[in-house]
Amino acid sequence: MHLPDLNIAKKREKRENIYIELKEDIKKVFTNKKYFLRTYGCQMNVHDSEEIRSYLERLGLEETLNIEEANVIVLNTCAIRENARDKVIGFLGKCHYLKKNHNDVFIVLAGCMCEQPDFVKLIQEKYSFVDLLIGTHNIQDLPHLLTTKFKEQEIEVYSESDEVIEGIQYKRDSKYTAWINIMYGCDKFCTYCIVPYTRGRERSRQKDKIIKEVEELIKEGYKEVTLLGQNVNAYGKDIGEKFSDLLESVAKTGIERIRFVTSHPWNFTDEMIDVISKYKNIMPYIHLPIQSGSNEILKRMNRRYTKEEYLELFHKIKEKIPNVSITTDIIVGFPNETREDFEETLDVVKTCEFDGAYTFIFSPREGTPAARMEDKVSMEEKEKRLYELNELVNYYSNKSNQKLLNKEVEVLVLGESEKDNTKVYGYTDTMKLVNIEGDNIKDTIGKIIKVKITDAKSFSLDGVVVK
Ligand code: SAH
Ligand code: SF4
Ligand code: F3S
Repeated sequence: MHLPDLNIAKKREKRENIYIELKEDIKKVFTNKKYFLRTYGCQMNVHDSEEIRSYLERLGLEETLNIEEANVIVLNTCAIRENARDKVIGFLGKCHYLKKNHNDVFIVLAGCMCEQPDFVKLIQEKYSFVDLLIGTHNIQDLPHLLTTKFKEQEIEVYSESDEVIEGIQYKRDSKYTAWINIMYGCDKFCTYCIVPYTRGRERSRQKDKIIKEVEELIKEGYKEVTLLGQNVNAYGKDIGEKFSDLLESVAKTGIERIRFVTSHPWNFTDEMIDVISKYKNIMPYIHLPIQSGSNEILKRMNRRYTKEEYLELFHKIKEKIPNVSITTDIIVGFPNETREDFEETLDVVKTCEFDGAYTFIFSPREGTPAARMEDKVSMEEKEKRLYELNELVNYYSNKSNQKLLNKEVEVLVLGESEKDNTKVYGYTDTMKLVNIEGDNIKDTIGKIIKVKITDAKSFSLDGVVVK
C-alpha cells in the first residue's frame, strides 16, 4: 500500500492531547484496510493496546480477528519471562509466511520487548521483515510512523526519554470497567525483574488529570475503574502526592467501584488501609505479591521487606478491612533456592490462606542481576516445587470460594460467559469470577446485581440472579 504523509498536529512540547487530523488522501489509504492486534503481558500492556487501537481506528483502519486478512499486524509484546519471547518468535514465523504470500501487510512489534537491546538486535539480524519496532515510551508516535516511515521499508527503532503524557485517547475493551494509568515505570529494581528496564523510572500523573478522567468515565456510564501502576501505591512520590489521598479523591467522585493494582508491600501505608475501610466504593480486594517466604531469598530479590514484615502487614489488612480478599505472586526456583527456603514459602501460604496466587518458575532475564547469580537447582526440581506449590495454592483458593456457597454477593456483570452464552459473567467486589444464570440474563450486562452462589470451584463460582 502506498502511504502518503500524514498531517498530525501534536503539541509536541508538552505532549498533551494527541490530535490526529486526516487529510483526504490519507483517509483513502486506510479505508477498507484492516488491522490485527494481539497483546501479551500485564494490564499495562492491555491498556497500551487500547491506546494503539484508538490510533489505528482514528487513522481509518478496522479491526479484524482473522490475521490472514490483515494489512497491519501489531504484536504488543511482554518481556517478563523467557517463554514470552518464544511465543513472539513463533508468531513471527506466521507473519513471515503471510508477508511472503501477500505483500500488502505491515508488521509492527510494540511493547516491553522492544525496550530490550538484545531483542531489538535479534529482530534486526534475523527477522528483518518486521517493519517497525515501537517501544513503551512512544506509542504516541505510532500514527505518524505508520504513515510516513513505513515507506522506507526498513526497521526504525524509536524510543524516547521518560515523560508523562496526558490526554491520551483509548478505545477501551469494556463499556463498564476501565483501566486508568496513574503512574508509569518502576524504581524498585527487584533483582529478577525486567520491568524497570522496559518501562523506565517511576513517574506519576497529576492528580487533577486522573480525577477528570474518572469523572468523564462516570459520564460515559462506567461503573468501575482500576488504577494501574507497576507499584500503584508508590504513586505521587515524584510530585509530592500520596496514593492514599488520590484514592480518597477518586472515591469521592462517586464512581461505583474502584480497584487498584499492583500494590507493593513496601509502600503499603496505614493511611491506605484507613481510606480503603472508610469508603464503600473502594473494593476490598488487594493484590499483594510476596514472591518468597524466605528472608534470605527476599533479600537477594531486593524486595525490601522480610517475611515477618509482610505477615504483619497482611494481618493488619485482614483485621481492618472487613471481608477483604488478598491474592499474591510467588516465584519458585530463584537462584540457589534451597528446599528449606521453599518450605518457608509453603508455610507462608498456609498461614495466609491466599484467595488466589499467580505462581512462576524463576526465569533469568538478560541484564538483570539475578540472571548472573549462581544457580545449582535443576529445572526438574523447580518444576516439582511449582507443582507442589500450585496444589497448596489451589487448595486455599477453593477453600475461599467454598465460603461463598449459598451466600448472596454483588457482581458487576461484564458480558456473556465465554463457554456458555446462555450465561453472563462478572466479578464480585472481592474480584471473584462468577458465571450467572437467570431470566432475561443479558439485560444485566453493565449492571451491579445481587447473585446467589450455587457452586464454587477453584477458579470460578456459579450463581443465579436474586430477584
Ligand atoms: N509490579 C508487580 C508485578 C510485576 S510482574 C510487583 O512488583 O509485584 C508480575 C509478576 O511476575 C511478579 O510479581 C513476579 O512474581 C513475576 N516475575 C517477574 N519477573 C520474573 C522472572 N524473571 N521470573 C519469574 N517470574 C517473574
Ligand atoms: Fe518488577 Fe519489582 Fe518493579 Fe514489581 S516492584 S515491577 S517485580 S522491579
Ligand atoms: Fe510484561 Fe511489560 Fe507488563 S514486561 S508484565 S508487559 S510491564
